[in-house]
Amino acid sequence: MGISLGVPKETAAGERRVALVPEVVSRLVKQGVTVRVQSTAGDAAGYPDTAYAAAGATVVPTADGAFSSEVVLKVQGPSVPEVSLIPKGSLVVAQMNASRNLPMVRALRNGGQTAFALELLPRITRAQSMDVLSSQATVAGYRAALIGAELTPKFFPMLTTAAGTIRPAKVLVLGAGVAGLMAIATAHRLGAIVEAYDVRRAAGEQVRSLGAKFLELAINAEGQGGYARELTPEEKVQEAEMVDRAVAEADVVITTAAIPGRKAPVLVRAPTVEKMRPGSVIVDLAAETGGNCELTRAGEQVVAHGVTIAGPLNLPSDLAFHASLMFAKNLQSFLGLLLTSEGGLVTDRSDEILVASLLVNAGEITHAPTKELAEKSP
Ligand code: NAI
Repeated sequence: MGISLGVPKETAAGERRVALVPEVVSRLVKQGVTVRVQSTAGDAAGYPDTAYAAAGATVVPTADGAFSSEVVLKVQGPSVPEVSLIPKGSLVVAQMNASRNLPMVRALRNGGQTAFALELLPRITRAQSMDVLSSQATVAGYRAALIGAELTPKFFPMLTTAAGTIRPAKVLVLGAGVAGLMAIATAHRLGAIVEAYDVRRAAGEQVRSLGAKFLELAINAEGQGGYARELTPEEKVQEAEMVDRAVAEADVVITTAAIPGRKAPVLVRAPTVEKMRPGSVIVDLAAETGGNCELTRAGEQVVAHGVTIAGPLNLPSDLAFHASLMFAKNLQSFLGLLLTSEGGLVTDRSDEILVASLLVNAGEITHAPTKELAEKSP
């Protein structure tokens, strides 16, 4: 007998995504799983109830109907009242952002549910198809480039027109991880001249393969065995000056620098913003974790020294159709570890991917750093 799988409507402010899309529902139903989707859960992402029903899901009228399942799938972690709708012993899988959601973690512990946090997936090759951080960062990077293109008063591409020749815009991307690389590729396709910087030298090759220039110091920071060595204090000053110069010359700066579990590093300080040309734009993807620019205000668009600084939150939600599709495919792949071929739950949960992403197990917080944070206070 297959298990019941519930997909509630997301309730966080501004959240348009949905955890499963009809295409993935139909695969799970074929596997013998009963899928209950809360009515209108997919509306904001462009997936109507009729599409879920056609895929074999049962559309249930209330949140309770979806939450009272053996496995609950969500985009964002459940709110505290939602946790109380999940039966004791049931599983919930979502991007929990556990360290910023401690009341939810405590509610899960007290309620006796089991929770898997997708942000804790190990970054190993086998887990790539489940990696929601990567899929959603791809969406965010794409949107960031488009926001930059929309806010700048300049064209991105070079144009030769009867009214003269237009020089291409200069886009600088700070942080060339998953989101940064997508922002680079998108800005490059729109015709901008793109430069990028990352503390990881290995990112240089990926940046160049996308047709952008990688900013490098004129020093050799290669240490033993091919690894980068720590920069000397003088070299760190040179690095800051290089980034400063590049920011001042850019028309659009897209910042994506992050350090897992920590506040975002500040890369663009107020005096640097002052050096930028009026009309320039900063799109700060790190707004949610404090911002890469000192003047960013999370969720707002501010103008400082003639520079527009956007600090958008939850960009994947802007592109909800494809962000949900990618999220659902990630979940389908993750469920491959949790479900048997007949749609039942596996009993052996010793796979390293399941072990690493297990946040709460039947009344016990299993992720040590979260446990420490959650148990400091009640
Ligand atoms: P992230 O979102 O944590 O950080 C974004 C970028 O900011 C990173 O490239 C980081 O090096 C950079 N950064 C941090 N501090 C900086 C500073 N002070 N100045 C400039 N840049 C700074 O990282 P993301 O994008 O999630 O992943 C980074 C890398 O991890 C990927 O490019 C990839 O190589 C690897 N990865 C591996 C996966 C796998 O094997 N399953 C899955 C996803 C990523």
